[in-house]
Amino acid sequence: MSQFHSDALVLFGAKGDLAFKKIFPALHAMVKRGRLNVPVIAVARGDWNHEQLRATANASIKTHSDGVDPAAFARLSSLLRCVAGDYSDPATFQKICEQLSGARSPAYYLAIPPVLFGKVVEESAKSGCSRGARVIIEKPFGRDLASAQELNRTLHSVFPESAIFRIDHYLGKRPVNNLVVFRFANAFTEPFWNRNHIESVQITMAENFGIEGRGAFYDQTGAIRDVMQNHLFQILSNLAMEPPVRNDSETVRDEKVKVLKAAPSIQAKNLLRGQYRGYRQEKGVAPDSKTETFAALRLEIDSWRWKGVPFYIRAGKNLPVTSTEVLARLRKPPAFIPECALLQNHVRFRISPEMTIAVGATVLGESDDMKGQKVEMIASRRPSPEEMEAYERILGDALSGDRTNFAREDYVEEAWRIVDPILKADTPVCEYEKGTWGPTQVDEVVAPPGGWRNPSASDKEDFRVATQVA
Ligand code: BG6
Repeated sequence: MSQFHSDALVLFGAKGDLAFKKIFPALHAMVKRGRLNVPVIAVARGDWNHEQLRATANASIKTHSDGVDPAAFARLSSLLRCVAGDYSDPATFQKICEQLSGARSPAYYLAIPPVLFGKVVEESAKSGCSRGARVIIEKPFGRDLASAQELNRTLHSVFPESAIFRIDHYLGKRPVNNLVVFRFANAFTEPFWNRNHIESVQITMAENFGIEGRGAFYDQTGAIRDVMQNHLFQILSNLAMEPPVRNDSETVRDEKVKVLKAAPSIQAKNLLRGQYRGYRQEKGVAPDSKTETFAALRLEIDSWRWKGVPFYIRAGKNLPVTSTEVLARLRKPPAFIPECALLQNHVRFRISPEMTIAVGATVLGESDDMKGQKVEMIASRRPSPEEMEAYERILGDALSGDRTNFAREDYVEEAWRIVDPILKADTPVCEYEKGTWGPTQVDEVVAPPGGWRNPSASDKEDFRVATQVA
């Protein structure tokens, strides 16, 4: 299928949480930048009219962006159409067809609970309006390998793979894409970015808030399905992939899939799950829930480049800070000045809240002896207000047909294969206090050599030496 621009966007789930928090602000930002010029058909269950839709969009943009731009909002309102009805009722899809009024290549965006994906796809096909369409589908894509395969079969019964855009909004984040750019744009990284020089890699995604009223969803999901199998595996792929030989979307995605193909499925002994105290009292959560709000795991990538280098990934809710970081520790040099202890030797990437690249080294300290001190040389910046948010970027890409930043069928299936055994293993869930770095057991069960490094709330606290990005 050629790369054409969609001529309408059909948004299923327009009344939902995701639309309110992310999608309306992204559409507003796209209009402001002149990147949205097609009708947006907002579909929601129950009663809803155009005025309510406008009011919801307005409130969403006010709450979740830098404010409503009157001209952009007026333009967005003129693009919005409203369809209310049940997702299993053919009449709803007839109304959508009417609103599409001749659009030949609409994009169907399924921002709805996964249980409804199949029905919506089926009804769209029956309505006849999905010919020439593409489908944008939210995560989680399935809940294990078998359900992801089943969902892929359902989608493929209507859409070719080239028309399926599986969202992982981490692929729309610049600091995530920067991992690839930094590695392949700078010739000095390649010689040490491999098993000969890297001892271990750890990825931490810490959030200092809980499940924020999403109990019913989260309790069915847990940290492994919510962020590890998708967001953190995308970071892993960018860290570990080989340079693509061409820049087209399929060649880039081929390289990412190869990383996952080289990773054996994780064994239960390499997983530690945790749950913050008080989680079971949250609304929508089962009183005896065993769902993890924290997980730490170890995996390996048996490729020529990475064989023998352990990768550690951890994620948790209600930890002390909100930050996502990567730390690659380098191997010890073969010989060293005996009086001066080797204090650190690493490369650190910060994905959020700042975008940071840091080289952690040991240097001679200030005293007049051979004692060393730690320094980090860093390049760091906060996202500028002009930068696109991840959702704006990926929605724009989906409408214009650029598949690079979307997960392909084989990628999601490999990702599920890797975590499938630990999802089924029924490992214990260890409690932890809110505001701590997870269960204390983590350091016995899944700890990188040299230990976990906990990200700070703000990078500035850490640095003795700082350089500015020019
Ligand atoms: C979502 C998860 O996909 O990503 C949330 O469902 C998580 O639980 C969120 O908080 C994190 O995204 P970001 O962009 O804030 O890092």
